[in-house]
Amino acid sequence: MLYGEKSLLRFSTTGSVDDGKSTLIGRLLYETKSIYEDQYAGVERASLRKGLKDVELAYLLDGLAAEREQGITIDVAYRYFETPKRKFIIADTPGHVQYTRNMITGVSRSDCAIILIDARNGVQIQSKRHGLILSLLQIPHLMVAVNKMDLVDYSETSFANIVAEFENFSQKLDIQDITYIPVSALKGDNIVEKSRKMPWYDGSSLLHCLESAHVTGNRNLVDFRFPVQYVIRPHQDFRGFAGKVISGTIAPGEEIVVLPSRDRARIETIATFDGELSEAFAQQSVALELDREIDVSRGDMIVRKKNIPQADTHLDATICWMDEEASSKATSFILKHTTRNVRAYIRKIIYKIDVNTLHREQADSFLLNEIGRVEIDTASPIFFDPYRLNHATGSFILIDPLTNKTVAAGMIRNTSREINNDTDDSSSTNGLVTGFNEPGKAVESSDSRKASKVPVTPVLKSSNLIWSDLNIPREAREKRNSHPAAVLWFTGYSGAGKSTIAKLLEKKLFDSGHQTMLLDGDNLRHGLCRDLGFSEQDRNENIRRAGEVARLFFEAGHVVLCSFISPFVKDRKLVRSLFPETSFFEIHVKCSLETCIKRDPNGLYKKALTGQISEFTGVSSPYEPPPNPEIVVKTDVQSPEQIIEALWSLLSSSKSIRT
Ligand code: ADX
Repeated sequence: MLYGEKSLLRFSTTGSVDDGKSTLIGRLLYETKSIYEDQYAGVERASLRKGLKDVELAYLLDGLAAEREQGITIDVAYRYFETPKRKFIIADTPGHVQYTRNMITGVSRSDCAIILIDARNGVQIQSKRHGLILSLLQIPHLMVAVNKMDLVDYSETSFANIVAEFENFSQKLDIQDITYIPVSALKGDNIVEKSRKMPWYDGSSLLHCLESAHVTGNRNLVDFRFPVQYVIRPHQDFRGFAGKVISGTIAPGEEIVVLPSRDRARIETIATFDGELSEAFAQQSVALELDREIDVSRGDMIVRKKNIPQADTHLDATICWMDEEASSKATSFILKHTTRNVRAYIRKIIYKIDVNTLHREQADSFLLNEIGRVEIDTASPIFFDPYRLNHATGSFILIDPLTNKTVAAGMIRNTSREINNDTDDSSSTNGLVTGFNEPGKAVESSDSRKASKVPVTPVLKSSNLIWSDLNIPREAREKRNSHPAAVLWFTGYSGAGKSTIAKLLEKKLFDSGHQTMLLDGDNLRHGLCRDLGFSEQDRNENIRRAGEVARLFFEAGHVVLCSFISPFVKDRKLVRSLFPETSFFEIHVKCSLETCIKRDPNGLYKKALTGQISEFTGVSSPYEPPPNPEIVVKTDVQSPEQIIEALWSLLSSSKSIRT
């Protein structure tokens, strides 16, 4: 990366509190003459006043520390310095546990990271957490600075022990290049010059390592991705789409596709404040003018015709939870990805990672700073590349719509439609890194990736659709109702008793103060689904529509009871995927076919058996029982009262109703 004549290295510093980070940064700034003399004199005086032997360089950063303590800012502080060889930007990220969030912000744009470890304390859990995050974020170079060597008498053994401990841990991570340096930031050993106090160390000083770190840049220069920020129309003759090229390059004349509409055009001009460009590349903010009028709006993505990202509503991602409050599967979030905001749920926690051992653990929720792998469903497709191929389109954040807080940062591994059995291997640590990053793998073009097995997300019929977030989020409605929203899906043969049970349960729910809605197959087929028959395809569509209607009522905060034969596993799975895992209950209303035929409430079995109607479930069309329903009730064995009691207890034990 060029910055003027010299190359620029962005690096971050992390460490636990008191590991000496401020002193280290102060030392670098001082020795590279990046601070004013009067600033230094002030720090010298303050150190003297406190009776300190050494000048406390950390005081240089004290103004900022005070701000942090008062909660004015807990943001990342950027500092600049330069040497004859290079320019540097330091992202100084706070070490407190609660600031992992800022650490991620600071680190994600760095070429290199320094983890500080106090020589007296050894490798702390926080150092390991930082190491794991650096690995997940794919920081190419890591320097482990073992600090305060003066306090352990510059002991080679102390250093070697820490190196061995960190090495043992980091073997399971995916960091390609780790350098260990014994330093004393306070005394200046091995910071700028090599120290004579540690003759046993044959490596370079920290600054020398920083000056010579190879900057490969984690930018993807292959896959052109341009999330649209604004449509600009200063006058009749110009209509441009403003935004930042987040990866790849583009030039006038090239053919592009706009997502999601898939409308095509060619780039006419690339405009900037300083005139037109013959090529735009990653990180440049430009306005693209196309050769024809097509509809493009904020949140759309412009890409090359032959290099299209994935579009999906199901994501397999690694997230770091950054909120004090534990995650809940029932919450819907706003997933912010490039310039697009979509509603999202954490559908499933596949595992979380024990930071100490890097083992995978089963989990129902994430606590502050926990890291793990999840399946996320979004309300409308996002256009992404796996993080390992493209950091810009592979990362996102989750925002709580009620508090507006950023609660998690995430990196997309892939679509979750391809998750295979590697998730069952709960003791393995290998998958952690290899499943996420492929070590040593260079950025590859989407063109060269193997054809995806992912089913294509149904293309929207109209290109002029933008998902509009609900004005009043479900959580607010649930709060007012004092009960969560839920979907109870009754499936079973015609005549099994689905509607009877659903009606009884709805009455009980309604009487106890719940907002409810009953969706019934027969009723929907009178209106919304009147165009559908009973072929497999028509039933697919029937259930899809029913699921979408259920979702609307669900988002309105209701307990939605749905009574549909819904004979196919695939259709029920699709419906399930529309809701948070803990909010959906599949209820198999079981009854032997003989009993259903005997009951034959509407005389339809008779007609089916005599061939007057075709494709009748159980007679001339299949029924696939649910392999894993939340509950099975048997209407030919249990009384309606018993069944209602069983359902009530299921719902109350899962805290889905008022009790
Ligand atoms: S589903 O298979 O698509 O889920 P749904 O629950 O909406 O079916 O509708 C089933 C209702 O339609 C039955 O309760 C029955 O009254 C009526 N019906 C009419 N013809 C058929 C048929 N061929 N198969 C099943 N149900 C039928």
